[in-house]
Amino acid sequence: MKCKRLLGAVMAAAVLVTSLASCSKEVNYTPDMAEYAYEDGAPSLRDVYADYFQVGAAVNPRDFEEGTDRFKIIDKQFDVYTLENDTKAENIHPAEDEYNFEATDQLVEFGEKYDKTVRGHTLVWHSQCPDWFFCDENGDDVTADVLVERMKEHITTIVSRYKGKIDTWDVCNEVIDDNYGLRFSDWLRIIGDYDGDGDNYDFVEIAFQTAREADPDARLIINDYSLEVNGNKAVTMYNMVKQLLEEGVPIDGIGLQMHIDYETDVERMRKNFELLAKLREVDPDFVLEVTELDLSCFTSNDNSTEKEITEEFTQQFDAKYCEVFNLLMDLSEEGILDTVVFWGYDDGSSWLNEFPVEGRTNYPLLIDRDLKFKSAYWNLMNLPRQREAGETQSQEAE
Ligand code: G3I
Repeated sequence: MKCKRLLGAVMAAAVLVTSLASCSKEVNYTPDMAEYAYEDGAPSLRDVYADYFQVGAAVNPRDFEEGTDRFKIIDKQFDVYTLENDTKAENIHPAEDEYNFEATDQLVEFGEKYDKTVRGHTLVWHSQCPDWFFCDENGDDVTADVLVERMKEHITTIVSRYKGKIDTWDVCNEVIDDNYGLRFSDWLRIIGDYDGDGDNYDFVEIAFQTAREADPDARLIINDYSLEVNGNKAVTMYNMVKQLLEEGVPIDGIGLQMHIDYETDVERMRKNFELLAKLREVDPDFVLEVTELDLSCFTSNDNSTEKEITEEFTQQFDAKYCEVFNLLMDLSEEGILDTVVFWGYDDGSSWLNEFPVEGRTNYPLLIDRDLKFKSAYWNLMNLPRQREAGETQSQEAE
C-alpha cells in the first residue's frame, strides 16, 4: 500500500518531497524546455504540485507499454492512475462466472513497480454494468436478496484480489440524481429499503461495508459528477453521507469528478466544496478528491462540433485552469484535498471527443493531439511559484 497521499506521515519522505518541490518551484517553466510531452527534458506536473496534492490521470492498458511515448508521459507527469474503463463491471465481470482481471492486474503491477498510487474505478455503477446482475434466467428482475449477494460477491472478489495493492476505490459511482434524491438505478429499484429502516441508502451501505471488510486499509470513495456546480446534488450528497457516517458506514471521502468547462463558475465550485468539507465535523479524516478533471471547450448548452481555438479563447481556457488550480491549492491548504486526477491526459484520447455531440472535436486537457504540451500546461507549471511569490492571489484572498 502506497502512503504518498498521506504527506507528512513519514518525516524523511516529507522533507525530501518538500525540498524537491521547492527546487522545482524556483524554476520559471517555459515552452522551450520541451515541445513534446515525452521528451527526456520535460518537467513534471506532479513535482510542482507535490506540496499540495498528488496529480493523476485516467489511463488505458496501452499506456503501460514501457519505452513508448505514452508510457514516458504518464510516468513523468503523474502519481495516481485510474483505468478509464477496464475495472468497470462490464469489463472485469462480464458474466456471473467470468472475471477478466488482465488490465487491472497490469495497472497494479505498474503501480507496484514504479511506486505509484492506483485507484479502482468503479464497483457499483448504473452504467457499464452488465444486465446479468439484475436479471434471472427468464430475464425478470432478481430479488433484492439475490442482487445483494451478487453485489457482495462482486465487491469481495475484486477488492480482496487487490487488497493492499489498489489504494483507493470508487465504491459507488453516480448514485445521486441530477435534480434531487437518489438516482433511480436498478441497484436502488431492486434493493430499496433492504433493512426496513425507512431510507433507501441500503445498497450504498452494503457496498461500503463489503469493501471495507475486503480491504480494511483501502480508501473508500463515493464518486459523482456536477457536485461542484449543482447545489441540489451537493446538498443531497452531503445529507446522505452525513447520515451514513453517523451510522458508522465506512465512507472515507467524496470524489468530485469535475467535468467542467471554460465558463464554469469557480466561486460556486468553492461553495460546494466547502459544504462537502463540513463532513469533517462528523469524521475529521474525511477527504475530498478530484477524480476526473477535464475542461471542455464547449458549454453544456452548445451543440456545435467545432471550436475555433483563437488566441483569446486560449487565454480564457488557460486562465480558467489556473483559477481552478488556485481553488484546489486553497482546499489542499485547508487539509481537505490531497488528490487531483485528470480524465485522460491528451486531447486526442479524451471521451469528450464525439460526446455528448457526435462528430465533435474537443480540447479539454493539457497535452494536444500530437502529444505536445499546450500553453495551459506551462501556465499551471508556473502557478505554484507565482502563488507563493504573491504574484497570484487565491479568489478567497482577493
Ligand atoms: O471497447 C469498445 C469497442 O470494442 C467498440 O468497438 C466501441 C464502439 O462504440 O466501443 C468501445 O467501448 C467504448 C468504451 O468507452 C471504450 O472506448 C464505449 O462504447 C463507450 O461508451 C465508453 O465510454 C466510456 C464512458 O465512461 C462510458 O460511460 C468513456 O471511455 C469513459 O471515459 C467514461 O468515463 C466516465 C467515468 O467512468 C464516470 N464518470 C463519467 C466519465 C465520462 O463519461
